Amino acid sequence: MARSKSVFVCDQCGAQQPKWAGQCADCGAWNSLTEGAPAAVPKGREGGYTGGTESRVRRLADIEPGQTPRAPTGLAELDRVLGGGLVPGSVVLIGGDPGIGKSTILLQMLAALDGVRGLYVTGEESLEQVHLRAQRLGVAAGELGLLAETCVERVLSLAQSENPQLMVIDSIQTIFSQALTSAPGSVSQLRESAAMLVRFAKSTGTALILVGHVTKEGVIAGPRVLEHMVDTVLYFEAEASSRFRVIRAVKNRFGAVNELGVFAMTDGGLKEVANPSAIFLSRHDEAVAGSVIMVTREGSRPMLVEVQALVDESHLHNPRRVALGPEGNRLAMLLAVLHRHGGVALTDQDVFVNVVGGIRVSEPAADLAVVLAALSSFRDRPLPRELVVFGEIGLAGEIRPVPGGEDRLREAAKHGFKRAIVPAANAPKSGRGPEGLQITAVRRLSEALDHL
Ligand code: TYD
Ligand code: MG
Repeated sequence: MARSKSVFVCDQCGAQQPKWAGQCADCGAWNSLTEGAPAAVPKGREGGYTGGTESRVRRLADIEPGQTPRAPTGLAELDRVLGGGLVPGSVVLIGGDPGIGKSTILLQMLAALDGVRGLYVTGEESLEQVHLRAQRLGVAAGELGLLAETCVERVLSLAQSENPQLMVIDSIQTIFSQALTSAPGSVSQLRESAAMLVRFAKSTGTALILVGHVTKEGVIAGPRVLEHMVDTVLYFEAEASSRFRVIRAVKNRFGAVNELGVFAMTDGGLKEVANPSAIFLSRHDEAVAGSVIMVTREGSRPMLVEVQALVDESHLHNPRRVALGPEGNRLAMLLAVLHRHGGVALTDQDVFVNVVGGIRVSEPAADLAVVLAALSSFRDRPLPRELVVFGEIGLAGEIRPVPGGEDRLREAAKHGFKRAIVPAANAPKSGRGPEGLQITAVRRLSEALDHL
Protein backbone atom coordinates (compact mmCIF):
# COMPACT_ATOMS: atom_id res chain seq x y z
CA MET A 1 0.00 0.00 0.00
CA ALA A 2 1.32 3.41 -0.88
CA ARG A 3 2.05 5.55 2.15
CA SER A 4 0.04 8.75 2.17
CA LYS A 5 2.60 11.48 1.68
CA SER A 6 2.48 14.84 3.31
CA VAL A 7 4.38 17.90 2.30
CA PHE A 8 5.39 21.06 4.12
CA VAL A 9 3.94 24.25 2.74
CA CYS A 10 5.40 27.69 3.38
CA ASP A 11 2.64 30.04 4.49
CA GLN A 12 4.50 33.04 3.12
CA CYS A 13 5.11 32.00 -0.47
CA GLY A 14 3.21 28.75 -0.81
CA ALA A 15 6.26 26.72 -1.84
CA GLN A 16 6.18 23.02 -1.02
CA GLN A 17 9.09 21.23 0.63
CA PRO A 18 9.39 17.49 1.17
CA LYS A 19 10.90 17.95 4.63
CA TRP A 20 10.38 20.35 7.46
CA ALA A 21 13.04 23.00 7.89
CA GLY A 22 13.37 26.14 9.97
CA GLN A 23 13.64 28.33 6.91
CA CYS A 24 11.79 28.15 3.61
CA ALA A 25 14.30 27.38 0.89
CA ASP A 26 12.28 29.36 -1.66
CA CYS A 27 11.54 32.69 -0.03
CA GLY A 28 13.81 32.58 3.01
CA ALA A 29 11.01 33.15 5.56
CA TRP A 30 11.71 31.67 8.98
CA ASN A 31 9.48 29.21 10.75
CA SER A 32 6.82 29.35 8.06
CA LEU A 33 6.55 25.70 7.01
CA THR A 34 3.43 23.84 8.08
CA GLU A 35 2.42 20.31 7.26
CA GLY A 36 -0.25 19.97 4.62
CA ALA A 37 -1.56 17.70 1.91
CA PRO A 38 0.09 17.89 -1.50
CA ALA A 39 -1.62 20.37 -3.84
CA ALA A 40 -4.62 18.56 -5.23
CA VAL A 41 -4.45 17.75 -8.90
CA PRO A 42 -7.81 18.47 -10.53
CA LYS A 43 -9.66 15.34 -11.60
CA GLY A 44 -8.90 14.19 -15.12
CA ARG A 45 -5.54 15.92 -15.13
CA GLU A 46 -3.57 13.34 -13.18
CA GLY A 47 -1.77 12.21 -16.28
CA GLY A 48 -0.78 15.69 -17.36
CA TYR A 49 -2.53 18.07 -19.70
CA THR A 50 -3.88 16.02 -22.56
CA GLY A 51 -7.06 16.22 -24.54
CA GLY A 52 -9.52 19.02 -23.90
CA THR A 53 -10.07 21.72 -26.44
CA GLU A 54 -7.38 21.90 -29.05
CA SER A 55 -5.02 24.87 -28.86
CA ARG A 56 -3.13 26.32 -31.75
CA VAL A 57 -0.55 29.02 -32.25
CA ARG A 58 -1.83 32.25 -33.78
CA ARG A 59 -0.07 35.33 -35.06
CA LEU A 60 -0.32 38.50 -33.05
CA ALA A 61 -1.44 40.47 -36.11
CA ASP A 62 -4.36 38.07 -36.68
CA ILE A 63 -5.91 38.67 -33.32
CA GLU A 64 -8.95 40.93 -33.38
CA PRO A 65 -8.73 43.31 -30.47
CA GLY A 66 -12.18 43.01 -28.98
CA GLN A 67 -13.34 45.87 -26.79
CA THR A 68 -13.11 44.93 -23.12
CA PRO A 69 -16.65 45.50 -21.95
CA ARG A 70 -16.76 47.19 -18.58
CA ALA A 71 -19.67 47.41 -16.24
CA PRO A 72 -19.53 50.58 -14.14
CA THR A 73 -19.95 49.70 -10.47
CA GLY A 74 -22.17 52.65 -9.66
CA LEU A 75 -19.43 54.13 -7.45
CA ALA A 76 -17.31 56.46 -9.55
CA GLU A 77 -14.35 56.40 -7.17
CA LEU A 78 -14.26 52.61 -7.28
CA ASP A 79 -14.49 52.66 -11.08
CA ARG A 80 -11.50 54.97 -11.13
CA VAL A 81 -9.28 52.42 -9.34
CA LEU A 82 -10.66 49.53 -11.36
CA GLY A 83 -9.83 51.35 -14.58
CA GLY A 84 -13.39 52.11 -15.63
CA GLY A 85 -15.51 49.35 -14.15
CA LEU A 86 -15.69 45.61 -13.69
CA VAL A 87 -14.65 43.38 -16.56
CA PRO A 88 -16.69 40.18 -16.98
CA GLY A 89 -14.64 37.14 -15.99
CA SER A 90 -12.08 39.23 -14.16
CA VAL A 91 -11.03 38.55 -10.59
CA VAL A 92 -10.45 41.36 -8.10
CA LEU A 93 -8.80 40.88 -4.73
CA ILE A 94 -9.56 43.58 -2.18
CA GLY A 95 -7.54 43.70 1.01
CA GLY A 96 -7.58 45.85 4.11
CA ASP A 97 -7.55 45.92 7.91
CA PRO A 98 -10.57 44.55 9.77
CA GLY A 99 -13.35 47.09 10.17
CA ILE A 100 -12.08 49.41 7.47
CA GLY A 101 -15.21 48.96 5.37
CA LYS A 102 -14.60 46.18 2.85
CA SER A 103 -17.93 44.46 3.45
CA THR A 104 -19.68 47.82 3.51
CA ILE A 105 -18.40 49.02 0.17
CA LEU A 106 -19.11 45.70 -1.52
CA LEU A 107 -22.68 45.65 -0.25
CA GLN A 108 -23.12 49.23 -1.42
CA MET A 109 -21.71 48.31 -4.79
CA LEU A 110 -23.96 45.27 -5.20
CA ALA A 111 -26.94 47.42 -4.31
CA ALA A 112 -25.91 50.17 -6.70
CA LEU A 113 -25.58 47.67 -9.54
CA ASP A 114 -29.28 47.49 -10.17
CA GLY A 115 -30.30 44.95 -12.77
CA VAL A 116 -27.12 42.91 -12.40
CA ARG A 117 -27.49 39.43 -10.95
CA GLY A 118 -25.30 39.60 -7.86
CA LEU A 119 -24.36 36.91 -5.37
CA TYR A 120 -22.85 37.83 -2.02
CA VAL A 121 -21.21 34.88 -0.28
CA THR A 122 -20.40 35.58 3.33
CA GLY A 123 -18.29 33.31 5.46
CA GLU A 124 -17.90 35.74 8.34
CA GLU A 125 -21.32 37.11 9.08
CA SER A 126 -24.81 35.66 9.32
CA LEU A 127 -27.44 36.63 6.78
CA GLU A 128 -29.21 38.60 9.54
CA GLN A 129 -26.10 40.69 10.06
CA VAL A 130 -25.89 41.38 6.35
CA HIS A 131 -29.55 42.35 6.38
CA LEU A 132 -28.97 44.72 9.31
CA ARG A 133 -26.10 46.34 7.50
CA ALA A 134 -28.17 46.78 4.35
CA GLN A 135 -30.87 48.44 6.44
CA ARG A 136 -28.33 50.72 8.05
CA LEU A 137 -27.00 51.65 4.65
CA GLY A 138 -30.52 52.25 3.45
CA VAL A 139 -29.93 50.30 0.28
CA ALA A 140 -32.75 48.62 -1.56
CA ALA A 141 -31.39 45.42 -3.04
CA GLY A 142 -34.25 43.01 -2.60
CA GLU A 143 -33.10 40.90 -5.53
CA LEU A 144 -29.53 40.43 -4.31
CA GLY A 145 -28.62 36.78 -3.77
CA LEU A 146 -27.12 36.04 -0.35
CA LEU A 147 -25.36 32.90 0.72
CA ALA A 148 -23.77 32.04 4.06
CA GLU A 149 -21.40 29.25 3.15
CA THR A 150 -17.73 28.45 3.54
CA CYS A 151 -17.28 25.26 1.52
CA VAL A 152 -16.04 26.17 -1.92
CA GLU A 153 -17.54 23.11 -3.60
CA ARG A 154 -21.01 23.99 -2.31
CA VAL A 155 -20.53 27.67 -3.21
CA LEU A 156 -19.63 26.70 -6.75
CA SER A 157 -22.46 24.24 -7.25
CA LEU A 158 -24.95 26.85 -6.05
CA ALA A 159 -23.29 29.50 -8.21
CA GLN A 160 -23.64 27.21 -11.23
CA SER A 161 -27.40 27.18 -10.87
CA GLU A 162 -27.69 30.80 -9.75
CA ASN A 163 -25.45 31.97 -12.62
CA PRO A 164 -24.57 35.40 -11.19
CA GLN A 165 -22.91 38.14 -13.23
CA LEU A 166 -21.02 39.31 -10.17
CA MET A 167 -19.99 37.19 -7.21
CA VAL A 168 -18.43 38.49 -4.00
CA ILE A 169 -16.60 36.17 -1.59
CA ASP A 170 -16.27 37.74 1.86
CA SER A 171 -13.66 36.58 2.78
CA ILE A 172 -11.39 34.14 0.97
CA GLN A 173 -9.68 33.22 4.28
CA THR A 174 -12.88 31.61 5.57
CA ILE A 175 -13.42 29.46 2.47
CA PHE A 176 -12.19 25.87 2.43
CA SER A 177 -12.16 22.98 0.02
CA GLN A 178 -13.26 19.49 1.08
CA ALA A 179 -10.43 18.02 -0.97
CA LEU A 180 -7.85 19.22 1.55
CA THR A 181 -7.47 18.44 5.21
CA SER A 182 -5.72 21.61 6.31
CA ALA A 183 -7.56 24.39 8.13
CA PRO A 184 -9.35 27.25 6.32
CA GLY A 185 -7.01 30.19 5.87
CA SER A 186 -3.90 28.02 5.43
CA VAL A 187 -1.96 28.57 2.26
CA SER A 188 -2.92 25.29 0.64
CA GLN A 189 -6.62 25.99 1.29
CA LEU A 190 -6.35 29.55 0.05
CA ARG A 191 -4.57 28.49 -3.10
CA GLU A 192 -6.89 25.63 -3.90
CA SER A 193 -10.18 27.38 -3.19
CA ALA A 194 -9.07 30.58 -4.90
CA ALA A 195 -7.96 28.59 -7.94
CA MET A 196 -11.35 26.86 -8.12
CA LEU A 197 -13.18 30.18 -7.85
CA VAL A 198 -10.93 31.80 -10.46
CA ARG A 199 -11.52 28.90 -12.86
CA PHE A 200 -15.25 29.31 -12.35
CA ALA A 201 -15.06 33.04 -13.05
CA LYS A 202 -13.00 32.62 -16.21
CA SER A 203 -15.13 29.82 -17.61
CA THR A 204 -18.49 31.47 -16.95
CA GLY A 205 -17.58 35.13 -17.43
CA THR A 206 -18.66 35.98 -13.90
CA ALA A 207 -16.88 38.96 -12.39
CA LEU A 208 -15.46 37.79 -9.06
CA ILE A 209 -14.43 39.89 -6.07
CA LEU A 210 -12.45 38.23 -3.27
CA VAL A 211 -12.04 39.93 0.07
CA GLY A 212 -8.69 39.24 1.68
CA HIS A 213 -7.48 39.90 5.20
CA VAL A 214 -4.32 41.76 5.83
CA THR A 215 -1.60 40.57 8.18
CA LYS A 216 0.22 42.72 10.71
CA GLU A 217 2.86 43.48 8.12
CA GLY A 218 0.20 44.95 5.86
CA VAL A 219 0.15 42.32 3.13
CA ILE A 220 -2.78 40.15 2.20
CA ALA A 221 -2.60 36.98 4.29
CA GLY A 222 -1.30 34.10 2.24
CA PRO A 223 0.20 36.89 0.21
CA ARG A 224 1.85 36.16 -3.08
CA VAL A 225 -0.13 33.07 -3.97
CA LEU A 226 -3.31 35.11 -4.14
CA GLU A 227 -1.89 38.20 -5.79
CA HIS A 228 -0.57 36.12 -8.68
CA MET A 229 -3.87 34.46 -9.37
CA VAL A 230 -6.05 37.52 -9.73
CA ASP A 231 -6.29 40.30 -12.31
CA THR A 232 -6.56 43.23 -9.95
CA VAL A 233 -5.38 43.82 -6.39
CA LEU A 234 -6.90 46.69 -4.44
CA TYR A 235 -5.88 47.85 -0.98
CA PHE A 236 -8.03 49.75 1.44
CA GLU A 237 -6.00 52.18 3.55
CA ALA A 238 -6.80 54.59 6.33
CA GLU A 239 -5.40 56.13 9.45
CA ALA A 240 -7.11 54.78 12.55
CA SER A 241 -8.52 58.12 13.61
CA SER A 242 -9.47 59.35 10.17
CA ARG A 243 -12.85 58.91 8.57
CA PHE A 244 -11.34 59.00 5.12
CA ARG A 245 -10.69 55.72 3.34
CA VAL A 246 -8.41 55.37 0.35
CA ILE A 247 -8.60 52.49 -2.12
CA ARG A 248 -5.46 51.97 -4.13
CA ALA A 249 -4.85 49.65 -7.08
CA VAL A 250 -1.48 47.92 -6.68
CA LYS A 251 -1.93 45.54 -9.60
CA ASN A 252 -4.35 45.92 -12.47
CA ARG A 253 -4.40 43.97 -15.70
CA PHE A 254 -7.20 46.22 -16.97
CA GLY A 255 -6.09 49.67 -15.92
CA ALA A 256 -3.47 51.86 -14.30
CA VAL A 257 -1.90 51.11 -10.94
CA ASN A 258 -1.48 53.53 -8.07
CA GLU A 259 -4.79 55.10 -8.95
CA LEU A 260 -6.62 56.22 -5.81
CA GLY A 261 -10.29 56.29 -4.91
CA VAL A 262 -11.25 58.30 -1.87
CA PHE A 263 -14.24 57.69 0.38
CA ALA A 264 -15.45 59.00 3.72
CA MET A 265 -17.05 56.66 6.28
CA THR A 266 -20.34 58.10 7.52
CA ASP A 267 -23.39 56.84 9.44
CA GLY A 268 -24.88 55.82 6.13
CA GLY A 269 -21.89 53.90 4.81
CA LEU A 270 -19.07 55.02 2.57
CA LYS A 271 -19.58 58.24 0.63
CA GLU A 272 -17.44 59.13 -2.34
CA VAL A 273 -15.15 62.12 -2.08
CA ALA A 274 -15.10 63.31 -5.64
CA ASN A 275 -12.63 66.13 -5.13
CA PRO A 276 -10.22 64.95 -2.47
CA SER A 277 -7.47 67.35 -3.34
CA ALA A 278 -7.18 69.22 -0.07
CA ILE A 279 -8.84 66.94 2.49
CA PHE A 280 -5.52 65.76 3.89
CA LEU A 281 -4.36 69.21 4.96
CA SER A 282 -4.65 70.03 8.63
CA ARG A 283 -4.99 73.81 8.11
CA HIS A 284 -3.16 75.49 10.95
CA ASP A 285 -4.22 79.03 11.79
CA GLU A 286 -0.65 80.20 11.62
CA ALA A 287 2.49 78.75 10.10
CA VAL A 288 4.10 76.12 12.32
CA ALA A 289 7.65 74.80 12.23
CA GLY A 290 8.13 71.36 10.76
CA SER A 291 5.14 71.44 8.43
CA VAL A 292 5.41 71.60 4.64
CA ILE A 293 2.66 71.24 2.06
CA MET A 294 3.51 69.18 -1.00
CA VAL A 295 1.60 68.28 -4.12
CA THR A 296 1.61 64.54 -4.57
CA ARG A 297 0.28 62.82 -7.63
CA GLU A 298 -1.01 59.39 -6.90
CA GLY A 299 -2.39 57.83 -10.04
CA SER A 300 -3.65 60.53 -12.34
CA ARG A 301 -4.81 63.03 -9.76
CA PRO A 302 -2.75 65.64 -7.95
CA MET A 303 -3.44 66.07 -4.24
CA LEU A 304 -2.18 68.40 -1.57
CA VAL A 305 -0.78 66.69 1.51
CA GLU A 306 1.00 67.95 4.56
CA VAL A 307 4.37 66.48 5.49
CA GLN A 308 5.31 67.00 9.12
CA ALA A 309 8.64 66.45 10.77
CA LEU A 310 9.82 66.61 14.35
CA VAL A 311 13.52 66.87 15.00
CA ASP A 312 14.51 66.60 18.62
CA GLU A 313 17.70 66.10 20.58
CA SER A 314 18.31 62.40 21.06
CA HIS A 315 19.36 60.64 24.21
CA LEU A 316 19.95 57.40 22.40
CA HIS A 317 23.14 55.97 21.10
CA ASN A 318 21.49 55.45 17.72
CA PRO A 319 19.12 58.38 17.18
CA ARG A 320 15.73 57.35 15.93
CA ARG A 321 14.56 57.81 12.36
CA VAL A 322 10.85 57.13 12.14
CA ALA A 323 8.96 57.65 8.92
CA LEU A 324 5.19 57.18 8.67
CA GLY A 325 4.28 57.68 5.06
CA PRO A 326 7.60 57.87 3.27
CA GLU A 327 9.89 54.89 3.53
CA GLY A 328 12.38 54.59 6.40
CA ASN A 329 15.52 53.99 4.36
CA ARG A 330 14.65 56.90 2.13
CA LEU A 331 14.51 59.15 5.19
CA ALA A 332 17.99 58.05 6.28
CA MET A 333 19.28 58.75 2.77
CA LEU A 334 17.69 62.21 2.64
CA LEU A 335 19.24 63.15 5.99
CA ALA A 336 22.63 62.08 4.66
CA VAL A 337 22.13 64.25 1.57
CA LEU A 338 21.07 67.15 3.78
CA HIS A 339 24.31 66.73 5.72
CA ARG A 340 26.63 66.48 2.72
CA HIS A 341 24.99 68.96 0.38
CA GLY A 342 23.16 71.24 2.78
CA GLY A 343 25.73 71.31 5.54
CA VAL A 344 23.19 70.48 8.26
CA ALA A 345 24.05 67.56 10.53
CA LEU A 346 21.19 65.87 12.36
CA THR A 347 23.35 62.99 13.60
CA ASP A 348 22.54 63.59 17.28
CA GLN A 349 18.84 64.23 16.68
CA ASP A 350 15.80 61.97 16.60
CA VAL A 351 13.86 62.54 13.38
CA PHE A 352 10.18 61.68 12.97
CA VAL A 353 8.35 62.24 9.70
CA ASN A 354 4.63 61.82 9.14
CA VAL A 355 2.19 62.48 6.34
CA VAL A 356 -1.03 63.86 7.79
CA GLY A 357 -4.33 62.06 7.26
CA GLY A 358 -3.15 58.46 6.91
CA ILE A 359 -2.41 58.68 3.24
CA ARG A 360 0.71 56.83 2.16
CA VAL A 361 2.99 58.83 -0.09
CA SER A 362 5.50 56.52 -1.69
CA GLU A 363 6.69 58.65 -4.59
CA PRO A 364 10.14 60.28 -4.46
CA ALA A 365 8.52 63.63 -5.24
CA ALA A 366 8.07 63.91 -1.47
CA ASP A 367 11.85 64.14 -0.91
CA LEU A 368 12.10 67.91 -0.98
CA ALA A 369 9.14 68.29 1.37
CA VAL A 370 10.65 65.80 3.85
CA VAL A 371 14.02 67.57 3.91
CA LEU A 372 12.51 71.04 4.26
CA ALA A 373 10.13 69.87 7.01
CA ALA A 374 13.02 68.32 8.95
CA LEU A 375 15.11 71.45 8.57
CA SER A 376 12.23 73.71 9.54
CA SER A 377 11.65 71.71 12.70
CA PHE A 378 15.37 71.59 13.53
CA ARG A 379 15.75 75.35 13.24
CA ASP A 380 12.30 75.93 14.73
CA ARG A 381 11.52 78.30 11.89
CA PRO A 382 8.16 77.94 10.14
CA LEU A 383 8.05 78.02 6.36
CA PRO A 384 5.62 80.41 4.67
CA ARG A 385 2.03 79.16 4.88
CA GLU A 386 1.29 79.75 1.22
CA LEU A 387 4.24 77.65 0.03
CA VAL A 388 4.08 74.30 -1.75
CA VAL A 389 7.02 72.14 -2.81
CA PHE A 390 7.74 68.94 -4.65
CA GLY A 391 10.81 67.30 -6.17
CA GLU A 392 12.98 64.23 -5.97
CA ILE A 393 16.43 64.56 -4.39
CA GLY A 394 19.36 62.62 -5.82
CA LEU A 395 22.43 61.39 -3.97
CA ALA A 396 24.53 64.13 -5.51
CA GLY A 397 22.27 66.77 -4.01
CA GLU A 398 20.52 67.50 -7.30
CA ILE A 399 16.78 68.12 -7.51
CA ARG A 400 15.24 65.86 -10.11
CA PRO A 401 12.04 66.45 -12.02
CA VAL A 402 8.92 64.47 -11.23
CA PRO A 403 6.04 63.45 -13.52
CA GLY A 404 3.07 65.77 -13.95
CA GLY A 405 4.72 69.00 -12.85
CA GLU A 406 2.20 71.28 -14.53
CA ASP A 407 -0.78 69.41 -13.09
CA ARG A 408 0.68 69.78 -9.65
CA LEU A 409 1.29 73.49 -10.04
CA ARG A 410 -2.23 74.06 -11.33
CA GLU A 411 -3.68 72.18 -8.37
CA ALA A 412 -1.65 74.29 -5.93
CA ALA A 413 -2.77 77.52 -7.60
CA LYS A 414 -6.38 76.36 -7.48
CA HIS A 415 -6.16 76.06 -3.71
CA GLY A 416 -4.74 79.52 -3.29
CA PHE A 417 -1.07 78.76 -2.76
CA LYS A 418 1.15 81.71 -3.70
CA ARG A 419 4.66 80.26 -3.90
CA ALA A 420 6.14 77.03 -5.15
CA ILE A 421 9.64 75.55 -5.04
CA VAL A 422 9.97 72.98 -7.80
CA PRO A 423 12.65 71.18 -9.82
CA ALA A 424 13.99 73.35 -12.63
CA ALA A 425 12.84 70.89 -15.27
CA ASN A 426 9.29 71.06 -13.92
CA ALA A 427 9.02 74.83 -14.08
CA PRO A 428 6.82 76.03 -16.98
CA LYS A 429 8.84 76.62 -20.13
CA SER A 430 7.29 79.99 -20.79
CA GLY A 431 8.49 81.13 -17.38
CA ARG A 432 4.89 81.83 -16.40
CA GLY A 433 3.03 79.36 -14.23
CA PRO A 434 -0.60 79.37 -13.28
CA GLU A 435 -2.08 82.73 -12.31
CA GLY A 436 -1.06 83.95 -8.86
CA LEU A 437 1.64 81.34 -8.25
CA GLN A 438 5.22 82.51 -7.98
CA ILE A 439 7.48 79.64 -9.03
CA THR A 440 11.06 79.16 -7.89
CA ALA A 441 12.93 76.62 -9.97
CA VAL A 442 15.84 74.89 -8.23
CA ARG A 443 18.56 72.58 -9.55
CA ARG A 444 20.28 71.70 -6.32
CA LEU A 445 19.28 71.23 -2.71
CA SER A 446 21.56 74.06 -1.67
CA GLU A 447 19.67 76.45 -3.99
CA ALA A 448 16.39 75.53 -2.31
CA LEU A 449 17.90 76.09 1.13
CA ASP A 450 19.44 79.44 0.09
CA HIS A 451 16.13 80.58 -1.28
CA LEU A 452 14.41 79.98 2.02
P1 TYD B 1 -16.94 46.55 7.59
O1 TYD B 1 -17.43 46.81 6.23
O2 TYD B 1 -17.65 45.51 8.39
O3 TYD B 1 -15.39 46.25 7.60
P2 TYD B 1 -14.59 45.02 7.04
O4 TYD B 1 -15.51 44.18 6.25
O5 TYD B 1 -13.50 45.68 6.24
O6 TYD B 1 -14.02 44.32 8.22
O7 TYD B 1 -16.95 47.95 8.33
C1 TYD B 1 -17.40 48.06 9.58
C2 TYD B 1 -17.04 49.37 10.19
O8 TYD B 1 -17.61 50.47 9.53
C3 TYD B 1 -17.55 49.36 11.58
O9 TYD B 1 -16.51 49.77 12.44
C4 TYD B 1 -18.70 50.31 11.59
C5 TYD B 1 -18.42 51.21 10.43
N1 TYD B 1 -19.63 51.62 9.71
C6 TYD B 1 -20.00 52.96 9.71
O10 TYD B 1 -19.35 53.81 10.32
N2 TYD B 1 -21.13 53.35 9.01
C7 TYD B 1 -21.90 52.44 8.33
O11 TYD B 1 -22.89 52.82 7.70
C8 TYD B 1 -21.51 51.07 8.35
C9 TYD B 1 -22.30 50.03 7.63
C10 TYD B 1 -20.38 50.70 9.05
MG1 MG C 1 -16.18 42.26 6.64
